[in-house]
Amino acid sequence: MPAIFPSKYTVSARFYDAISAEWPVYGAGREAAIPLLRLDEGAQVLDIGCGTGLNFPGLQQRIGPGGRIIGVDASAHMGEQARRKARRRGWSNVQVLEEDATTVSAARLREQVGGAGYDAVIASYALSLMDDWPAALATMVAACRPGARVAIIDMQPPQGRAAVWSPLARLACRAGGSDIHARPWTLLDQYCEDIAARSVRGGHIQVRVGTVR
Ligand SMILES: C[S@@+](CC[C@H](N)C(=O)[O-])C[C@H]1O[C@@H](n2cnc3c(N)ncnc32)[C@H](O)[C@@H]1O
Repeated sequence: MPAIFPSKYTVSARFYDAISAEWPVYGAGREAAIPLLRLDEGAQVLDIGCGTGLNFPGLQQRIGPGGRIIGVDASAHMGEQARRKARRRGWSNVQVLEEDATTVSAARLREQVGGAGYDAVIASYALSLMDDWPAALATMVAACRPGARVAIIDMQPPQGRAAVWSPLARLACRAGGSDIHARPWTLLDQYCEDIAARSVRGGHIQVRVGTVR
């Protein structure tokens, strides 16, 4: 299969975990969001734009070996890093698909878990990279069972006193190819109720987690 993103991440995928400011900044979004997914042991989770699999440790901790993680990423190189991470840690319950989240069908995603639909779906720092992120969000929701939890973690310019960090945040987003003004969480209430909101790192990172109606 030809790579969907042939050049992007070709080299940087290997260093992504080291250069992505995970510890000082972006890990805080996962730490805020994953508990709000209320995952039970054995849950089946979809990770859209999974990258190198930085969400996987937090998800695994909750779902255990009886659960499943299906990662989706358009970059073959990022997906390969995610698979390697899973192999190194002995997580045989992880599968990574090379797909464009804006065009893949919900049926294709559902068939990975027997057609019943996911218990939860997460998209971290991924929707704001996609031109047609509303399509990706609609597919995420359609791949879920009713009552599933949906998490969006994404970025905006830092707020209030933290606005002094805005130039740095804009630079980081531009370098990563994301649109800092996309605000994909603002559409979640079209699909979900019981939405929990968290704002971390001076408002730069926005987290919304809701329940599919
Ligand atoms: C900034 S990285 C974030 C990765 C990971 N979710 C994380 O939290 O570290 C964005 C990821 O989204 C993926 N991506 C961008 N557009 C995509 C699309 N249309 N379909 C699937 N994945 C996409 C990229 O290949 C990349 O791996």
